[in-house]
Amino acid sequence: MEDFSRRTFIGGTIAIVATLVSSQGSNAASTYKLGKTSKFKPGSLLIVTVPGQGQKVSVLATATGFFAFSTSCTHQGFQLQAEGKKLVCTYHGSQFDAKTGNVKAGPATRALTKYRTSVKKGYLYITL
Ligand code: FES
Repeated sequence: MEDFSRRTFIGGTIAIVATLVSSQGSNAASTYKLGKTSKFKPGSLLIVTVPGQGQKVSVLATATGFFAFSTSCTHQGFQLQAEGKKLVCTYHGSQFDAKTGNVKAGPATRALTKYRTSVKKGYLYITL
C-alpha cells in the first residue's frame, strides 16, 4: 500500500509538471515584423494590424524609439482610435497616453498593455 501511494504521488507530480511546462509553451511570446521603420515617421502615431495576427496595436514613433500598446480599451474592450499623441475611446471617452499607455481620462482606470518593439536591418518588430 505504501509503495502504491509513492507511485501514485510520483505519477501525479510528473503529470502536474508536464501540464505546467506545456501551458508555459502555449503562452510564449512571438515576434512579428510590422514593416520598414521609414513607414513610422518620428512624431507619428499609427494603428496597425499585426501581420498574421489580426490584432491591432498602436505605434508611436519618436526620435528616441518606438512605443507600442494594445488598442483594446481597458474599460470595456472597445477599439481605440489615434488622436494626436493620444489613444481615445469613442465609446465612453477614455483617453490614454500613446507613449506610456497610462490613463489620461476615465472611466478606464488601468493602463494599456505594452508591447516590446525592436529594430533589425531597417524593420520594426513587435513582440506580443
Ligand atoms: S469601452 Fe472605452 S471608455 Fe468604455
